[in-house]
Parts: sequence; C-alpha cells; structure tokens
Amino acid sequence: MTQDELKTLVGQAALHYVEPGSIVGVGTGSTVNKFIDALASMKDRIAGAVSSSVASTERLQALGIKVFDAAEVDELAVYIDGADEIDHAGYMIKGGGAALTREKIVAAQSRKFVCIADESKLVQTLGNFPLPVEVIPMAAQRITRQFAALGGVAALRLKEGVPLVTDNGQHILDVTGLKITDPLGFETQVNQWPGVVTVGVFAFQKANVCLLGAPGGVKTMV
Ligand code: 5RP
Repeated sequence: MTQDELKTLVGQAALHYVEPGSIVGVGTGSTVNKFIDALASMKDRIAGAVSSSVASTERLQALGIKVFDAAEVDELAVYIDGADEIDHAGYMIKGGGAALTREKIVAAQSRKFVCIADESKLVQTLGNFPLPVEVIPMAAQRITRQFAALGGVAALRLKEGVPLVTDNGQHILDVTGLKITDPLGFETQVNQWPGVVTVGVFAFQKANVCLLGAPGGVKTMV
C-alpha cells in the first residue's frame, strides 16, 4: 500500500468517531484532506465543522459542509487531525502545514483528539521532525538564540524564497537537533518565551486516540 492509500484508510476510519448531528473539529494536512473527502459522504448527518485553517475551510465548503467560526461554538465532541510525529503516549509534533496555532485552539475546544496518521509518524521520542514554532517576527532572532542554548538550530520557514506568512500573519521557525524527552515540560518552557505564538509540541492537547494506517489495516492506539 502507498502512503497515500494509508492516509485514505485512516481518513475513512475516522468517520466512526463523528457523532451524528454534531459539529466536528477538523485539522489540516494531506491526511485530513482524506478525512474531509470521506466526511462529505455524511454531510447531511452532521451540523457542520470548525476548521483549523483557511485551506481546510475551503475544502470543507467546496464539498458543501458548513463551517462555523470557533467562537460560535462552545465545545466540540471530537477533533480529527494528523501529526508530523506521535509517540506512544499520544504526544505529538504538529505544524508541518503551518496551521499549528489554530489546530491547538480547536483541539483545546474538543473533548477528544483523534489523530490520524500513517505508521511512519509513530516514534519513540519526539524531535526527529523539525519542530515548527509560530513566532512574532520581531522576536525570531532572540527565540533562535534561545533554541541554540537548548542545542537546537532554528531556521525561518520560506515559501517561494520569502518568509512564509501563516493564516495569523506570523512566521514559522523550524527547529532541528532537539530530543524532546519531556513533552509537557518542554511545551511549558517554550510557551513562556516572549514572542512565541505557539510551539508545535502538542502535549497538553495530546491525542486521546490514534488511528495508524499500516499495510495490514488500521491500528488503534489509545
Ligand atoms: C499541519 C499539521 C499536519 O497535521 C501535519 O503536518 C501532518 O500533515 P500530513 O497529514 O500532510 O502529513 O500539523 O499544520
């Protein structure tokens, strides 16, 4: 099975976690795109979605799924999203698609986080994938030095040769060279640095369930 087929498999499997009549929290990325496509098959049985990015909003709306603003909704039963890395405790690195801030906001609004990923995303320790950090541009240089003090190398993410600008109008640093052995402690520490909008470690908003696509089928990890 190709990686794309594994993504389709977990995208479809995630439909089992969608409560009829509810508003669904929807993440961002190529795996979530498979979920959105599958969700279209039950669009008449859900009230709609809260989306974590402009890209997911456009895809949902194109398929006829109503998108609510997060501020219009109190609590969501379930949030479905992918990950760049996930460990056996459900802690994740996210933000490869630059949507980490809104992803964390919608995840925090949801009772259950269902992560969908192909099995290549499962790791023992977080940190091989460059850690995305959304930052206020004027703080980027100082935050780069703070990561250097932890042994990390931060690089400004570019798109077509210029700094990528997120949906929130900010920049992304991708940090290599870190081994994140204490995800909760690390997230707490980096969150306190002035100018950090969101760090891509999802420890406080970890996955409650992970559907991992493998050649033998979907493995459920809780
Ligand atoms: C976007 C994310 C994505 O969930 C993550 O990058 C995984 O993406 P994909 O499903 O394309 O591998 O965090 O900000």
